[in-house]
Amino acid sequence: MKKFGPISNKFPHFYHGGDYNPDQWRHDPKILDEDIRLMKLAKCNVMSIGIFAWTALEPEEGHYDFKWLDEVMDRLYDNGIYVILATPSGARPTWMSQKYNEVLRVGANRVRNLHGIRHNHCYTSPVYREKTEQINRKLAERYKDHPGLLAWHISNEYCGECHCDHCQKAFRDWVQNKYETLDHLNLQWWTTFWSHTYTDWSQVESPAPHGEHKVHGHNLDWKRFVTHQTIEFYKNEIKPLKEITPDIPITTNFMGTYQGLDYWKFAKELDMISWDSYPQWHGPEKDWELASNISFVHDINRSLKGGKPFMLMESTPSMTNWQQVSKLKRPGMHLLSSIQAVAHGSDTVQYFQWRKSRGASEKLHGAVVDHCGHENTRVFRDVTEVGNALSKLEQVIGTTVEPEVAIIYDWENNWAINDMEGVRKEGRDYEKTCKRHYRPFWNKGIPVDVINMDCDLSRYKLVIAPMLYMVREGVAEKIEKFVEQGGTFVTTYWSGIVNENDLCFLGGFPGPLRQVLGIWAEEIDSLYDFESNYAVIDKENKIGVKGRYKIDQLCDLIHVESAEVLGAYESDFYKGQPAFTVNRYGKGNAYYIAFRNNNEFQEDFYKSLINQLGIKPILDTQLPEGVTVQKRTDGTKDYIFIMNFTFEEKKIDLGDITYIDMLNEKSITGPIALEAYGLKILKK
Ligand code: GLA
Ligand code: ZN
Repeated sequence: MKKFGPISNKFPHFYHGGDYNPDQWRHDPKILDEDIRLMKLAKCNVMSIGIFAWTALEPEEGHYDFKWLDEVMDRLYDNGIYVILATPSGARPTWMSQKYNEVLRVGANRVRNLHGIRHNHCYTSPVYREKTEQINRKLAERYKDHPGLLAWHISNEYCGECHCDHCQKAFRDWVQNKYETLDHLNLQWWTTFWSHTYTDWSQVESPAPHGEHKVHGHNLDWKRFVTHQTIEFYKNEIKPLKEITPDIPITTNFMGTYQGLDYWKFAKELDMISWDSYPQWHGPEKDWELASNISFVHDINRSLKGGKPFMLMESTPSMTNWQQVSKLKRPGMHLLSSIQAVAHGSDTVQYFQWRKSRGASEKLHGAVVDHCGHENTRVFRDVTEVGNALSKLEQVIGTTVEPEVAIIYDWENNWAINDMEGVRKEGRDYEKTCKRHYRPFWNKGIPVDVINMDCDLSRYKLVIAPMLYMVREGVAEKIEKFVEQGGTFVTTYWSGIVNENDLCFLGGFPGPLRQVLGIWAEEIDSLYDFESNYAVIDKENKIGVKGRYKIDQLCDLIHVESAEVLGAYESDFYKGQPAFTVNRYGKGNAYYIAFRNNNEFQEDFYKSLINQLGIKPILDTQLPEGVTVQKRTDGTKDYIFIMNFTFEEKKIDLGDITYIDMLNEKSITGPIALEAYGLKILKK
């Protein structure tokens, strides 16, 4: 039995609520009364408060005003509504920027920003660190015993970077600490190139568009430093909280696959993961294709802490105001997309935002309570429906997902791929490629973990690492061991090219993966968009894939060493050369897909692999296009989520097993229909 505890024992239920800014409405006390009435009506029970409330809390330096927050916390609690309390560092008071210029961020162009917007601060500034520590300490002291306080929400969507003198010094120290000697640094960054050799540590500075930005090891280390420095800032924020409220769990809201921070490093410092999800439903992508991509991100968030349930911290109850087109969610989509998060491991459904601002840039962003101010809206009914559904799923809290398959999607690898110059300028598509490899499993209702290359592989049957361009130290050995002991490993073209400092492997690609894959990749050919080739997999082979598959964009020209050829290129000067191979290594197999394609090949290949490896779909039935199945489990009891991400009715057959439909508590079996954007949550 594998079950995690609730986020807080104070309130072991699904959290349903959102960002709430009563600080915007202090001039109108009736609003709080009305909000409480509406929260109860909407079945909302947890609000995130104070996210941008610094000036309301500290209107003048050292003068605090907590009265309004006391009232909000007390009133909410008296009405059964709990609080995730934010630290306010995401935006600072005007008086602070005016008095202490150093708190403001300096851009890569070395120009300091003016006061304004948000997230516009230096992560190194001693003043900003002191100020955030102080306000956080005050908050912790004041609310440490508040029965309504469930968790800390640190800052908001940490992002961006600062290039001020404080940050330059910190970067220099970080670099010096990492490389110890200038010779080592120069070799690892390959600075003899264009005479970029450093002769003194003081010459090291951050990349700049009008200065150094062509040294890949340098760029990579700067990105690592930004993650490091943001985490240091965060650690400074949580110091007083850990000291004064050691039992209150801490999170900060992540932004999916945001590239500015390596969330795998950050995750280690959080008590639980939370993220903000804003899919562009009903947009240019088919809803079900987008749903599969969003599932991929939910799976990252669950995998970040080894399967521990995460929090959906923000999502919109209707539309966003910052996408190209602010489209409304079609009927059914709000419940469906909320439950999708739960199906992948979220124990919360939280929104941005509870009540719409009256002014400023988010006044037209979707909210539970619109400017009309009452509950008689479609959005309000949709939200209430989610609240009702969550109240029927209590048993699901703390359960997890136990996949047999993992896909490696690695932040540093993405950074390196995007920075390289070569192969293709546009459409390197690392993330898109990982999502494509994920999709066949989503289509079949097979759960997947999305991990980084440092994760333990031993719990999986199948590990897929598309475009594993960078291979950090120890990773190849781990993959070898995994395959040796019977695991199946799949990778693709453009893998095993550089080490962790972005230096190319010498002696033949795919570098340290060469032995396990049993191939040598000599060259890679890039195709124009108007060109294509085919991979022909026509001879009898043990994987049982047969066909002619269209190739686009990339063809690796490989030679087999110990591997067996399963398919070959159909045309061009490399006609007949291997395009798809497998290498028996110990008790397992390592596959190499040398070409990029529109996923037809992956659909067929993974279908065969799933059968061969005995990987079990959650339901033993054919799923129609756009329908997926996910499962949460505690090892004994299974909770099955069947979700239709199309605007059409879809039928599936549950066979002769009888389930309980958790939303209406009736038994259900045999063929069933899912309405457009419909879902079923079944208990086995
Ligand atoms: C982000 C922020 C919120 C809000 C929403 C709008 O996720 O964290 O404060 O701006 O976007 O979609
Ligand atoms: Zn700075």
